[in-house]
Amino acid sequence: MRKIKIFDTTLRDGEQSPGASMNVEEKVQLAKQLAHLGVDIIEAGFAISSPGDFEAIKTIGAEVQGPVICSLARAKEKDIKRAWEALDGTPKKRIHTFHSTSDIHLKHQFRISQEEALKRSVEMVKFARGLVEDVEFSPMDATRTDVGYLCDVIEAVIGAGASTVNIPDTVGYSIPSEFGKLIKTIFDRVKNIDNAVISVHCHNDLGLATANSLSAVLNGAGQIECTINGIGERAGNCSMEEVAMTLRTRRDLFNADTNIVSEEIMRSSKLVTKITGMSVQPNKAIVGDNAFAHESGIHQDGLLKDKSTYEIIKPETVGLYKTKFVLGKLSGRHAFRTRLNELGFTLNDDEINSAFERFKKLADQKKDIFDEDIEALVSGDVVKVPEVYTLIGLKVSSGMNQKPTAEVKLKIAGEVSEKTEHGDGPVDAVYKAIALMTDTKSSLLKYEVKGITGGTDALGEVMVSLEEKGRAVRGHGADTDIIVASAQAYINALNKLAAGNPQLDNKLTL
Ligand code: KIV
Ligand code: ZN
Repeated sequence: MRKIKIFDTTLRDGEQSPGASMNVEEKVQLAKQLAHLGVDIIEAGFAISSPGDFEAIKTIGAEVQGPVICSLARAKEKDIKRAWEALDGTPKKRIHTFHSTSDIHLKHQFRISQEEALKRSVEMVKFARGLVEDVEFSPMDATRTDVGYLCDVIEAVIGAGASTVNIPDTVGYSIPSEFGKLIKTIFDRVKNIDNAVISVHCHNDLGLATANSLSAVLNGAGQIECTINGIGERAGNCSMEEVAMTLRTRRDLFNADTNIVSEEIMRSSKLVTKITGMSVQPNKAIVGDNAFAHESGIHQDGLLKDKSTYEIIKPETVGLYKTKFVLGKLSGRHAFRTRLNELGFTLNDDEINSAFERFKKLADQKKDIFDEDIEALVSGDVVKVPEVYTLIGLKVSSGMNQKPTAEVKLKIAGEVSEKTEHGDGPVDAVYKAIALMTDTKSSLLKYEVKGITGGTDALGEVMVSLEEKGRAVRGHGADTDIIVASAQAYINALNKLAAGNPQLDNKLTL
């Protein structure tokens, strides 16, 4: 059975999804989870693109054990040097350099000849090999590149020392039969092909990224580049959970598998959603809310008789467990801590104490506390930010024919401050008061509210995105009162802005 390498680019291409930028702490947290998930290579960022990416690669290289840590670099000396500096001290490192090869890109974007592009690619692969052993090269827009020329480039970069050559379907243009044929042609025509692993990197513009990647595997590809939840530039990248679970479920057909620890899939998916604020569509394969929900009576009847009738993957295989028990008012700290661990949260004692206080408060308001409630309660603790602003009091009045009014009390760097404001609605009034007290210059990009579990006593979870001087941050709040949750989310985002984050300063995107 062949082992297909999983090259995870959630932290690089995934981060190129509009609004999905992550700060250094968030990237490190996610990289640790990717290591638990068993990915072989983590593309931790694009070192030259920003100080935040550089720092993230450096920290991940120092703190995350297991996978190879990789930085992206254009085929330019200064990019490659920067990638190498970011990877300095990383035990298992890779530089991934790329250059466009399609006529469309060479003529209209770079205005250089095919010969020049090939020369630059070879020179830069050699330069990278002078710094590190493990070099990957990508001929960007490969699927719209003349096949003969593409094979020449591949042969030349392998000759120059690239041990992985990645074939990107950069604009998601190919279809499975065509892409599979391209991979086969590469294997047939490139003389030194045995000296490198052929990788694929498919975008999802036509919804074919997973199918294209799998077709490539059937034709010899040994590495798949993908992201958790399929996030990425435009319509996204090939989804990790889809390729990994297809290979595992249809081992009979592919005769191939990956090192993915499938039980970690759900946890990884949820962490990406929490960190990026990008929810997964309910009908998304493997990780969507409905992926294992059977509505039809005929299906339910079959399932009750034998699971294999309508279930091709056991939910537990991907880490989806039915709630074993429901917590409530009488549950103690030990049960709460145990459940948190089972749900994959590793909080320190102080964080557990503060989460337990919030849990007790919630248990007074709500009879049954489900896993989703617990996850919402501690989501803000996943990535800690120092509290410059703390909400200590909130009173609102609103209703028909009444001007919504909010009285907000904050502790700002230890000093208590109070403000009363009016607004178009209660949330607007609260946000105006907070904005005045904190003197924020940020603008609100997104405000989202969702009920966590059913019932009018459900926890409401609020997610906001703020932008200030080109920096975007997300804030999170959860409470049975959605106005309180809204205030918490706004303050959480303001604290993130106050904590400072070089991530987006002068960020260079592809
Ligand atoms: O989509 C693409 O072509 C890329 C390359 C940098 C591999 O992301
Ligand atoms: Zn890409």
